[in-house]
Amino acid sequence: MKSADDLPKWREDFPYESEGDDHVTRRDFARFLVLVSGGLATGNALVYLRSRRPPAEPRARVEVARLDDLAPGSAVVFRYPDEATPALLIRREDGALVAFEQKCTHLGCPVSYERGGGEGGEEHLRCYCHNGRFDAASGEGTSGPPRDMRPLGRIALEIEDGKVFAVGLSPRREG
Ligand code: FES
Repeated sequence: MKSADDLPKWREDFPYESEGDDHVTRRDFARFLVLVSGGLATGNALVYLRSRRPPAEPRARVEVARLDDLAPGSAVVFRYPDEATPALLIRREDGALVAFEQKCTHLGCPVSYERGGGEGGEEHLRCYCHNGRFDAASGEGTSGPPRDMRPLGRIALEIEDGKVFAVGLSPRREG
């Protein structure tokens, strides 16, 4: 047994035993359970309510860009068929216009347009997640994981009064 002289100074100021410091009462544990359960229930309720929200109304015809603003070898991002879905309008180097959904068909990362002349030569759509590539004319996967996936979703275009309009999704080909 230690004498009073052997005890550290702080022990004189706080002469309480530490036994039971780690003891959690049943009431504390019940409080903890109620808080965690309440948090989980609230999270589930929010997910449920969000899933019940009606999907955004698809838009049939959307003005995307003025033709004069699109130089060959350039691309613009727009939203189609609804505000939540990004898409790419591309004016290829030969002047042709194409539009694709921007979501990679492998695991959903965004693709971006790259002109020819750089790494890889031909102009293409590139997904940086797993270094996938798609043909800029057809949307078919040409290298990386997309080669074994279906092509990018294609968007039909119309040109009227010098403006480019997205007018519908082309049916998917299986592949
Ligand atoms: Fe695009 Fe994997 S998500 S290549």
